[in-house]
Amino acid sequence: MTADTGTIFRLEDYRPSDFLIGETRLTFRLDPTATTVIAELDMERRAGAVLDAPLVLDGDELTLTGLSLDGQALGDDAYEATPERLTIRSVPASARFRLTIETKVNPAANKALMGLYRSNGVYCTQCEAEGFRRITYFLDRPDVLSVYTVRIEADRATCPLLLSNGDPVEAGDLGDGRHFAVWHDPHPKPSYLFALVAGDLGVVEDSFTTASGRQVKLGIYVEHGKEDRAGYAMDALKRSMAWDETAFGREYDLDVFNIVAVSDFNMGAMENKGLNIFNDKYVLADEETATDADYANIEAIIAHEYFHNWTGNRITCRDWFQLCLKEGLTVFRDHEFSADQRSRAVKRITEVRNLRSLQFPEDQGPLAHPVRPRRYKEINNFYTATVYEKGSEVVRMLRTILGDETFRKAMDLYFERHDGQAVTIEDFIACFADVSGEDLSQFALWYHQAGTPNVTASVSHDAQKAELVLELEQQLPPTPSESRKKLMHIPLSFGLVGPEGEDLGWSAVEGAAVADGVIHLKKRKQTLRFSGVPHLPAVSLNRGFSAPVNLTLAQKPDALLHLALHDGDPFCRWQALVTMFTQALIDGHRSLLADAEPTFDEALLDLPGRIAADAGLEEAFRALALTLPSETDIAREIGSDIEPYCIYGARARLARAIGTRNRDRFEALHQSLTTQEAFSPDAASAGRRALRNLLLDYLAAAERTPARAAGAFARSTNMTDRFAALSVLAHRFGGSPEAVDALEAFERRYAGDALVMDKWFAVQAMMPGAAALDTVKALMGHAAFDLSNPNRVRSLIGTYANANQTGFHRADGAGYAFFAETVLEIERKNPQLAARLATALRSWRSLEPNRRAAAQSALEAMAASQTNSRDLADIVQRTLA
Ligand code: BES
Ligand code: ZN
Repeated sequence: MTADTGTIFRLEDYRPSDFLIGETRLTFRLDPTATTVIAELDMERRAGAVLDAPLVLDGDELTLTGLSLDGQALGDDAYEATPERLTIRSVPASARFRLTIETKVNPAANKALMGLYRSNGVYCTQCEAEGFRRITYFLDRPDVLSVYTVRIEADRATCPLLLSNGDPVEAGDLGDGRHFAVWHDPHPKPSYLFALVAGDLGVVEDSFTTASGRQVKLGIYVEHGKEDRAGYAMDALKRSMAWDETAFGREYDLDVFNIVAVSDFNMGAMENKGLNIFNDKYVLADEETATDADYANIEAIIAHEYFHNWTGNRITCRDWFQLCLKEGLTVFRDHEFSADQRSRAVKRITEVRNLRSLQFPEDQGPLAHPVRPRRYKEINNFYTATVYEKGSEVVRMLRTILGDETFRKAMDLYFERHDGQAVTIEDFIACFADVSGEDLSQFALWYHQAGTPNVTASVSHDAQKAELVLELEQQLPPTPSESRKKLMHIPLSFGLVGPEGEDLGWSAVEGAAVADGVIHLKKRKQTLRFSGVPHLPAVSLNRGFSAPVNLTLAQKPDALLHLALHDGDPFCRWQALVTMFTQALIDGHRSLLADAEPTFDEALLDLPGRIAADAGLEEAFRALALTLPSETDIAREIGSDIEPYCIYGARARLARAIGTRNRDRFEALHQSLTTQEAFSPDAASAGRRALRNLLLDYLAAAERTPARAAGAFARSTNMTDRFAALSVLAHRFGGSPEAVDALEAFERRYAGDALVMDKWFAVQAMMPGAAALDTVKALMGHAAFDLSNPNRVRSLIGTYANANQTGFHRADGAGYAFFAETVLEIERKNPQLAARLATALRSWRSLEPNRRAAAQSALEAMAASQTNSRDLADIVQRTLA
């Protein structure tokens, strides 16, 4: 591993490469422990480059075994090779030359899962961001685009399948049980999009005909015997291809598109040109093994990686500072796809929940950074919720501000203007400015300033003048190394909601820019006067979560209840409920801190019953509306001096009070939703299951006995219902014979299925209370657990640290100490995974003093003992700073 050199990469230091690589021909002689890689590079000096600049190629843990230039072996003094660098001192004066480099790599020993490695006996690669340099010396930077031809040689028996990017051009026998295949990708691409797969896998095949009539052969490769779990992924792929044609006018551009599922993968999936590689968790699904959430994730990630073909591959990033250019934009595209395939309202609420639970804490803690960072030490640590999710929100705001039609025209211009290029956020924004004629410089601050803006709003009304006054103020909190902030352009979609839930009009507005139901807050303070408003309405603000801000809106006390029952904007309706629940939970936790029993308002307790019974609402929406904020959500809203046990106590009491108060209604609805319909993963069916399972949880809380959940577990006929019942048992009745039996039965049934065992690990990692630590420690010794598999680690350790507030944040700090030790152990194999895991401690300063001190010691222990990775050092140092 690269030692912590502490090098800081800065955006302003960008310089184009002095050399270009027009063509890259690679030969792989695959061997588990000694693979030979021969790279033949057609190089040229870039016009305008420094003339006597030496050629410096990137490497990482490489061993050079041969080197020649224009066919001549290079003498020892002509070059210098270290594991990290190949320097060719004097390059021929001729503009073009050919470099041939031979390296040896050991795929079996590669536990970092970057470069060429083995997963379950399958050779595969992961090159983004800087993994290609672990395969051969190269200009491993996204602005060096090259046309690749790849020849793979391997044993036919163990590797009948040989795949790479682009289209297959040749295959044949080599004798001695070996064979070869050659692939050619005509589209110039950066090295991070290179991929190779070789092994013995099963396949599901299909085809897609593009709008202009190109026949594309589709293949999804999975472990033998799992072919029948790849059908949903294939269906999602075809729907993605069709959607990109209609929604963005983008067609696929090769004759084949392959997806390979592997079981050892650091991330969710990777968009390599024509050969996407997936974590098998995001490919394999059937009703026996996958939950509705798994199906939704598969659909979204298949779409995401496919959409990268245009936003990322055809148009790529100039440098890694521009990561949001491809990731934020592609997340926006996959969000829109899912919204069109499912329920737009439900999708939006889910996105906002996700943003708040993952991105807001990042933006409000020590790891805060702009959507487009200006500096980094380790780029792997910048694949963050800010780059991805906030990056997507910024694109969404562009559409809100410019309107659908202008947005689409600007996207068309972007594709036309920059196809085949490696570009920047400035290039992207320029397309929107050019098409709309608007000055987007203030808006662009969303890319450049870190931190979640706070917006406060207050409402007053003058009945005499029939005037409504809305006062708005923005405030930008300081973030690491950015104390002074500029004012932002915040687009707030809004409506005035009348007594029957109807949107009210007004005759004139004075004070600030309001267009098409959107307020454009650009100054620190703005006052808006709406005339022609005779009665005080409820104000529905930031509809659809048009801007990713923290909003505090002061209006008449019953306005929230009115919005919760009547707002025509489903997001704001849901938000009103969340605001009411959150307030009650914060109050409840405060009572418990003072040793008093919390009490809850009766109107609030009735509300879930009314929402649940409203047949005019989609079931999936009702399920979301009835879901209480998580303990983590409540902690974030409290913000400082967090005491997790009182939060847990308040939430458990509110759930029981809601269940008890609405028991008959919930029971009847639960009954009516219990049908024998055959399983279908579609959104409406999933919504019914979500509502039914949420009601099960409330009823179990009210009844205080595991019987109902145990019955549901025994009768379940799909994983969604089975896992929901198991969760109720484990989390509400942990330790009861029913819970113990169900956990055992689940383990027996799925012992051989690693992905399902991940659910079994996760459900136990989330069991509330201090005893969870011993449970997690014991599970690390389970036969199905494996510290070098990222899915196992995330299910057990990641879930424990991120989702179990009482179990992880034990008063004695033992959770943190165990965590630090485990992260360090993982770091020795897989630094990238360890660093991601360590971000679970990013909000340590918000804890109450004793826990804060214990968390700090754990972080310091990591800082002191971690020796070999830049990845973990960077996270720990920034978290402590
Ligand atoms: N390009 C990334 C995969 C990646 C990330 C590779 C970091 C190397 C380092 C891919 O397109 C991606 O974003 N995947 C996401 C899932 C997606 C739906 C947001 C992932 O892997 O989590
Ligand atoms: Zn992506």
